[in-house]
Amino acid sequence: REFKINIAIDGPAGAGKSTVARKVAKELSYVYVDTGAMYRAVTWDMLNRGIDAEDETAVLERMGAIDIELVPGDEGQRVWLSGTDVTDEIRSLAVNRTVSRYAQIEGLRAELSAAQRQMALRKGVVMDGRDIGTTVLPDAEVKIFMTATVEERARRRFRELPESDEAITLEQLESEIAQRDELDRNREVSPLVCAADATVLDTTNMTIDEVAEAIVRQADLKLSRTGQ
Ligand code: CDP
Ligand code: CDP
Repeated sequence: REFKINIAIDGPAGAGKSTVARKVAKELSYVYVDTGAMYRAVTWDMLNRGIDAEDETAVLERMGAIDIELVPGDEGQRVWLSGTDVTDEIRSLAVNRTVSRYAQIEGLRAELSAAQRQMALRKGVVMDGRDIGTTVLPDAEVKIFMTATVEERARRRFRELPESDEAITLEQLESEIAQRDELDRNREVSPLVCAADATVLDTTNMTIDEVAEAIVRQADLKLSRTGQ
């Protein structure tokens, strides 16, 4: 396929965005970009330096010294922060619990969004996040808003918890996910909201393959209409 499009996938935590986006990218030979990893990497750095999200001046000043690189690979994207591979570290509970507070800061979002747009300039990108279809890539040819009940999303996340993390119950995890959704949906700058022209996919009772197939079908439709 010579002609390429961009695919934007948004939705709350645990909806299946990254798993499905990775699969769709593989099938189309596109590049997968996990924008959440960038917010996580920034958060990890700020926590290490003891910079609180309330201190916006300090956060933005520190942003100037941070260099994030997303490296696509066979086993998914790897995340490098100023020369260190932080792919595993950024999935910690400490980052889960604070990332949405840093993600509310307008200047921080502006910087990361600009970098994300750069990555999609040449098309052929499957990008997932919270504001991709609305703010980062409003011209994406395919836009998906992926959802699932909070109970199902918590169950999915519970299953994949690393053993090294502190113990957390399913109920606690569900309430933490609900809290993060709440912050993401209600922030002032590019909140988590379904774009007017996005297709809503409720994945509660869908397998990963079914969801990926539905998206590839939409992409194929667009490609056959615009590509010739
Ligand atoms: O993987 P999970 O759904 O748990 O979250 P993520 O995609 O890694 O994103 C982590 C957090 O980063 C979200 O809860 C948002 O607060 C923030 N985020 C955002 O604000 N905008 C994006 N485009 C992506 C992530
Ligand atoms: O990226 P996001 O937070 O939206 O979700 P994810 O990390 O891709 O998916 C969370 C977990 O749910 C993963 O372990 C997936 O394998 C699983 N999943 C599932 O069981 N059924 C789906 N339809 C999609 C994802």
